[in-house]
Amino acid sequence: GACLVSSVERTLAMIKPDAVRNGHVDSIIAACEAAGFVVAGRTDQQLTTSQASQFYAEHEGKEFFAGLTTFMTSGPVVALLLEKPNAIKDWRALMGPTNTEKAKSEAPESLRALYGTDGTQNATHGSDSFISAAREAAFWFPGDLAKERTLAMVKPIISDTK
Ligand code: TYD
Ligand code: MG
Repeated sequence: GACLVSSVERTLAMIKPDAVRNGHVDSIIAACEAAGFVVAGRTDQQLTTSQASQFYAEHEGKEFFAGLTTFMTSGPVVALLLEKPNAIKDWRALMGPTNTEKAKSEAPESLRALYGTDGTQNATHGSDSFISAAREAAFWFPGDLAKERTLAMVKPIISDTK
């Protein structure tokens, strides 16, 4: 019979310290689920400076790096492993532009427009590629989920319609 193939993709999201401090965790998770994402993992933690620098290693040397790591260590974050077909791009679309001021004018319904603060304190993070999703998921969820995750960021679901 015909075969329907779809891929459940995983991405790594964070709810950043400003949104946690301002009480937006439940609203952001509700918006996430309403958009069709399944929360496959959650961990609430406060990053050390060393961990924040490691997570954002690609930005080391940039003028905003110190401000970014100071912000990211200023309080607890909520890291989420999100599943959905096209999760990586769809989560970034739901978040909106990086800068909250830009998000407010260009995508007023986006998470960063609704819950962010400014160009650095922008409420949420999302992986920008398969490679970064795999790396960032392993950073936050190094336990049992890791084996499944490393080789199956794209998890095929094949259903035979008979
Ligand atoms: P970046 O990876 O460019 O954005 P995104 O989070 O959308 O992938 O930057 C990482 C974070 O660094 C960003 O969420 C906020 C902060 N940042 C600044 O503080 N100033 C800046 O000029 C930029 C580009 C980012
Ligand atoms: Mg980025």
